[in-house]
Amino acid sequence: MATALIILAAGKGTRMNSDLPKVLHPIAGAPLLVHAMKSGASLSPEKTVVVAGHGAELVENAALAWDDTVSVVVQEEQLGTAHAVAQARDALNGFEGTAFVVYGDTPFISTETLDAMKARRATADVIVLGFEASDPGRYGRLVTTGNALERIVEIKDATDAERAITLCNSGVVAADAQTLFDLVDDVTNDNAAGEYYLTDIVAIARDRELSAEVVRCDEAETLGINSRAELAQAEAAFQSKARRTALEDGIAMAAPDTVYFAHDTFVGRDALIEPNVVFGNGVTVENGATIRAFSHLEGCHVARDAVVGPYARLRPGAEVQEGAKVGNFVEMKNAVLAEGAKVNHLSYIGDASIGERTNIGAGTITCNYDGVFKHKTIVGADAFIGSNTMLVAPVSVGAEAMTASGSVITRNVPDGDLAVARARQENKPGLARRMFEKLKSNKEKQAKGA
Ligand code: UD1
Ligand code: CA
Repeated sequence: MATALIILAAGKGTRMNSDLPKVLHPIAGAPLLVHAMKSGASLSPEKTVVVAGHGAELVENAALAWDDTVSVVVQEEQLGTAHAVAQARDALNGFEGTAFVVYGDTPFISTETLDAMKARRATADVIVLGFEASDPGRYGRLVTTGNALERIVEIKDATDAERAITLCNSGVVAADAQTLFDLVDDVTNDNAAGEYYLTDIVAIARDRELSAEVVRCDEAETLGINSRAELAQAEAAFQSKARRTALEDGIAMAAPDTVYFAHDTFVGRDALIEPNVVFGNGVTVENGATIRAFSHLEGCHVARDAVVGPYARLRPGAEVQEGAKVGNFVEMKNAVLAEGAKVNHLSYIGDASIGERTNIGAGTITCNYDGVFKHKTIVGADAFIGSNTMLVAPVSVGAEAMTASGSVITRNVPDGDLAVARARQENKPGLARRMFEKLKSNKEKQAKGA
């Protein structure tokens, strides 16, 4: 059965108290909207329609940046969830199959739950995802008879008896697409909020002798974000799940609660992640690699058996190949460290390629930026870069070459050569002692004078 996905994301999110549209606030480095898109993508939808409104342009850009095959439609005025769904009609013109409605601010609906709803479509026309709420609060209440769903009552319109119901509406709905739009056509805004409620389609369906049923899920999945506090809770929920999954996947973490994952972090089996490591977006760490404490990684790849940190910073385009080592207070960006190479202490390696087994001495800097352009540094295999070498790019150092400590390298160094680029040392016999004596006597004179 073909599926289509309608993601409602037009709301303002007033309670976020933010200039950014609510659905663009991030969890684990990805906007809420992207989490909703990823969750919905598990249905392999033929079409996905994002309904944008507040900050529509920003929302559209974020949606297309994640998946450029989705359609984005704009709901100019937010007249309610049924009105929002109606905006997707043209984009789904000609689509035949089940349409799922999900919310852009509800990031954690699981694949299993969506699959259960899809399966239930075989026996019922309208499927609503419900949950037992620990605190039903403002949620719409599901009025049921056995398995059958009679109607959904919004809290503003509910009687005391209806408010006592704890089975609540998550907002996720599945129905035949044509049926869904037909039902939405009949929704009016004759209610306490003066809104077109999508929830009204259940009663309308039952009036038309269509069937409606509830599929239940865990409350945690339906967590919707309305405030900064809820966003922080959702982040925490994401992180605890990511940590559990990582441990199950065979990753060693002595203090998992201090490790922060991004939505797309990949870490291989038997990798070791020490405490207080933060993963930004786009990181892959292969099997058996070690990320030592207090490192920050983003947009990078760490190959098998490589060691990174403690206190290392890998920025986008850092590629640490097998068995290579990046030590403390080292920053890498857009640079390849080939197999077995080492940058162990206090260095910046940017826009560079470092050959196999090469050792980069402490304090070495690739001077990659001239204030306007970025330039490349290339160091061959088995080279030795002396401590505190400035490699002024564009520049290359050949295989098996050396640079003397403290050199400022501005010209290419051929294979096998030693480059020395610093002032020659001169020793002045006895001068230090004489200087000290003079300074000390000056100090005594000053003390007497005072
Ligand atoms: C809605 C449900 C309620 C359910 C709750 C779950 C309705 C009428 N009520 O209430 O039964 O328990 O969600 O969280 O559906 N949106 C638009 N355009 C609009 C209005 C809303 O795109 O015109 C989007 C919002 O951005 C949001 C979602 O739809 O992502 C839900 O809207 P919201 O106003 O938060 O609905 P609730 O009052 O929470
Ligand atoms: Ca809401």
